[in-house]
Amino acid sequence: MPSIHHHIATLRAALNPYRGQQRIALVPTMGNLHDGHLELVKLAKQHADIVVVSIFVNPTQFGAGEDFDSYPRTLDADVAKLATVGADYVFAPSIDEMYPVLPPPTSVRAGEITAQLCGQSRPNHFDGVGIVVSKLFNIVQPEVAVFGQKDYQQLAIIQQIVRDLSYPIEIIGAPIVRAADGLALSSRNQYLTEAERSAAPVLHKELQRLAAQLMHGQHLEQGLESLLIETRTRITEAGFKIDYLEVKTAQLDSLKVDGASASFNGDHQDLVVLVAAWLGRARLLDNQLVTVQQP
Ligand code: PAF
Repeated sequence: MPSIHHHIATLRAALNPYRGQQRIALVPTMGNLHDGHLELVKLAKQHADIVVVSIFVNPTQFGAGEDFDSYPRTLDADVAKLATVGADYVFAPSIDEMYPVLPPPTSVRAGEITAQLCGQSRPNHFDGVGIVVSKLFNIVQPEVAVFGQKDYQQLAIIQQIVRDLSYPIEIIGAPIVRAADGLALSSRNQYLTEAERSAAPVLHKELQRLAAQLMHGQHLEQGLESLLIETRTRITEAGFKIDYLEVKTAQLDSLKVDGASASFNGDHQDLVVLVAAWLGRARLLDNQLVTVQQP
């Protein structure tokens, strides 16, 4: 069983003997763990000797009216799952332990990259992620930290924070884990009714279809906006309320609107299709990387 710590001081004391001797990995989570999280831990174990999993439903990244209160808190079940994949430490602090003053007067803001995509409908979300991840980095001081690629924008923001604040931490992005029908695993999938769960894989199917169209250069002939409108229509008809569906460069820069042809990097362009859409109570995120060869 992993050793559980609720306090910063005891976790630090437990980790101190490893410093300089063994590599420590951090896997930050908000708990309610599923197979996707367990894959993060398995990946962390490939890159480090000691794996610390944090479980903290972080109040500063939830907006008013969001699901902070109802977010499932399942610590005992989480610890049992972590034992099956060999996590060494669980850090499960209280809100007071993490935030002596709430909201914290200090902020970690990643700037322009946070204003787009999820940042449009969740304006302070990434500031909350920025401060909690920075605190976790300072508390655990890992050599490696693993985050899921499902939260593509979050991963890009964390890479930027690590670069800009000179954290000596290697950030590893773990591939999206999907159910057999393609739905990306997420703690919020449990908000879906049976009927919604059956409709949910449409999101991934439509991303794949759009990615294939991009790969065949259809955006260069037909125009990107027209492809996006068609895809949005099909997703909406399946019962989703779309927050955004966008195609960006892999670095999350905008594509040039005039035929999208200006964004080629040499003979190809690396793009990412990103979606956030509501299905009933659940806000689902997904994305798909695609490389387009210049015709
Ligand atoms: O991706 C998440 O679960 C959270 O945003 C994170 C990184 C654990 C920060 O609270």
